[in-house]
Amino acid sequence: MPRYHLTTFGCQMNEHDSERMAGMLQSLGYSASASQEDADLILFNTCSIRETADTRFVAHLGHARRIKRERPSVIVGVGGCWAQSVKDEVFAQFPFVDVAFGPGQVHRLAEFLTSESLTAQGFFEFEGFTGDLPASRSRPFQSWMQISVGCNCRCSYCIVPSTRGREVSRPFADLIAEAQTLAADGVREITLLGQNVNSYGRDLRPQPHAFSDLLRAIDAVEGIDRIRYTSPHPKDMREDVIRAHAELPAVCEHIHLPLQSGSTAILRAMRRTYDQARFLDRVRLIREHVPDCAITTDIIVGFPGETEADFDQTLEVVNEVAFDGAFTFVFSPRRGTQAAELTDGLVPHEVKVERMERLVYAVQRHAAERAGRFVGRTLEVLVEGPSRTDPLRLRGRSRHNKVVNFIGAAAPGALVPVEITGATSQTLTGEMSLLALAADPLAL
Ligand code: 5AD
Ligand code: SF4
Repeated sequence: MPRYHLTTFGCQMNEHDSERMAGMLQSLGYSASASQEDADLILFNTCSIRETADTRFVAHLGHARRIKRERPSVIVGVGGCWAQSVKDEVFAQFPFVDVAFGPGQVHRLAEFLTSESLTAQGFFEFEGFTGDLPASRSRPFQSWMQISVGCNCRCSYCIVPSTRGREVSRPFADLIAEAQTLAADGVREITLLGQNVNSYGRDLRPQPHAFSDLLRAIDAVEGIDRIRYTSPHPKDMREDVIRAHAELPAVCEHIHLPLQSGSTAILRAMRRTYDQARFLDRVRLIREHVPDCAITTDIIVGFPGETEADFDQTLEVVNEVAFDGAFTFVFSPRRGTQAAELTDGLVPHEVKVERMERLVYAVQRHAAERAGRFVGRTLEVLVEGPSRTDPLRLRGRSRHNKVVNFIGAAAPGALVPVEITGATSQTLTGEMSLLALAADPLAL
């Protein structure tokens, strides 16, 4: 039996795509190998969102080259966003790569592996949803669901529109059928994935659909207890989507709403198509309909032209919203993007670092304060397995997407009530309530 080793970089969409790659390889008779040294196929699913993603990956690729030098029969394959973004140079720069493919051509890997061809090949035109390929899920009770691919936004810093192409939604009926199959297979939590999830369905013909219709239809699937999605765009965060969180029992009390900057001038330069007031208005609407909702975000510091006053605006929004958590990034110029061409107002490295420190401090302070509201409450936790830091405890997630480490006994996949006794900016701690047995037969 041939063996593959797959390394995944990047976002949840890449994790999803990797599960599909693994599923496809298993259907071709491949089995997973624990190390690259033992593999017949060394595969990478790559990311190119920031420069650090590129450098990290190229170091891994160097290791694959050394293995290939010792064992020339090994096949080296590179898929995903980095591969797509260097499609014209990949074979010239990395001649030991045998096959390269973008995020929309994963199925071509199978074609390559089953053909007699000995020459290197690249596949880069969008041809199909990875979501249509067989999956090999890492957890039986949780699943990704790819609802669309690509992105029609033109955010000036972002490489994704060029790596994942124009937005295409998967048919509504296919998604409902997939949710039903997943539920029948024991899945309780589904995370809907798209580059811009809440613009889902507008391109469908003859019948366009709204994202909130999709939430409603999946909520109605018996056995699906939790629905999450990532990432929405603030411009498409309409009231119907927010109301879905309040009205549909399965839709979790967590929204990841990428801010990027609190300054209207910088948002314009980023081509985000909303301003500070509109973002704050979306937050107000969320709090009005779903008062307990966790709100997390992404923020970029040091975008070209960002002045001290612009950065203050970001801090102001952070302080006003009091996010439950935030991913913070230093601006990284990406090949082919508009922002990479900007030469005015470049922010010096030490200023970026100093702003980042202030931002992280503010973010963590609010995250810790927000997490504190859970202490003394009993939260429903979906058990994932033993805690990573203390094997005597269990680890799971609340509906607010908080990691909870707790004392108790329950099988992975159980939904159990946990009394929260402690909170930090990152995690909650607690004890499983004795009501657990009554709540879910999977407990214990
Ligand atoms: N530089 C820094 N951060 C970026 N992101 C996207 N592109 C860049 C870039 N060029 C961040 C955004 C996005 C998250 C996934 O990565 O905040 O929401
Ligand atoms: Fe990386 Fe973005 Fe591609 Fe995800 S979509 S793998 S974050 S470049």
